[in-house]
Amino acid sequence: MELRAGIRVLVTGASRGIGEAIARAFAARGCTLGLVARAVEPLELLAASLPGHGHVALPGDVSEAPSIARAVREFGRVDVLVVNAGITHYMPFAELPLEKAEQMVRVNWLGTLYTVKAALPAMLELRRGHIVVVSSGGGVRGFPWAAVYNGTKAAQRAFAEALRHELHGTGVSVTTVYPGEVATSLHDHELDHMPDWYHLDRRSPAGPLGEKVVEAVEHDRREVFYPPIVRLLRVVNGVAPRAADVILRRMLGESAAPRRD
Ligand SMILES: NC(=O)c1ccc[n+]([C@@H]2O[C@H](COP(=O)([O-])OP(=O)(O)OC[C@H]3O[C@@H](n4cnc5c(N)ncnc54)[C@H](OP(=O)(O)O)[C@@H]3O)[C@@H](O)[C@H]2O)c1
Repeated sequence: MELRAGIRVLVTGASRGIGEAIARAFAARGCTLGLVARAVEPLELLAASLPGHGHVALPGDVSEAPSIARAVREFGRVDVLVVNAGITHYMPFAELPLEKAEQMVRVNWLGTLYTVKAALPAMLELRRGHIVVVSSGGGVRGFPWAAVYNGTKAAQRAFAEALRHELHGTGVSVTTVYPGEVATSLHDHELDHMPDWYHLDRRSPAGPLGEKVVEAVEHDRREVFYPPIVRLLRVVNGVAPRAADVILRRMLGESAAPRRD
């Protein structure tokens, strides 16, 4: 899709982190942004700081179908939909309270379905649109202590893969994004009990990912891997998971793949 003034982009989880980086990159192309998150104040600040005009803060909760449907309706025509809002709770599954598991499923997985469901019919009617689903490197390869989070991200991956083919010939396309470890506030609430394999100092900045997403929409790319090593993980894990274990142990330490059978 050609990105220019007049193109309307709705981003969920836009108030900070990866969503903010994506919103900034689209705004730099002249697009008009609809910014969704639960807290309104950061959205209003962001809307006011973006280049161009017409950007709107749309307070909404993706885990509530009527709430995200209202935000989509309020924005009006959506040319590009970025399904980005997400949360994590890292801990061994045996210790993870069921409410936290359900919360991740509701925001990351059901939130994806609710968001796409709200915007897709109008895109199909116009025979034009692009959907970006922000999954995770953890959606192509599961990591200890992230079993449920990774499950929601793998569900997004399968959904987006299927949807891209299903929408063939409709004028609507789909890109899936697989970030590795990116410096955002995603884990701020749990930094005192992260798994050993998680290394804060290895995180990539969010800014360049915004630009990569914009380019992927311009060129209708199927996938974005960021940093590029996530693509290698996907290929190796798909062909030989034990080889992926070896690579992960070397890169992240023993706790990333402790079993050797
Ligand atoms: N950072 C990483 O290393 C990494 C790696 C792989 C994948 N990802 C994925 O990237 C996406 C963005 O994460 P991030 O790292 O940028 O996290 P972040 O900095 O914590 O930002 C999360 C955004 O989502 C919003 N949000 C959370 N719950 C929501 C809800 N129920 N309804 C609407 N908005 C909600 C937050 O705003 P409010 O709290 O105000 O609602 C915020 O704008 C997520 O899907 C995440 O899984 C991140």
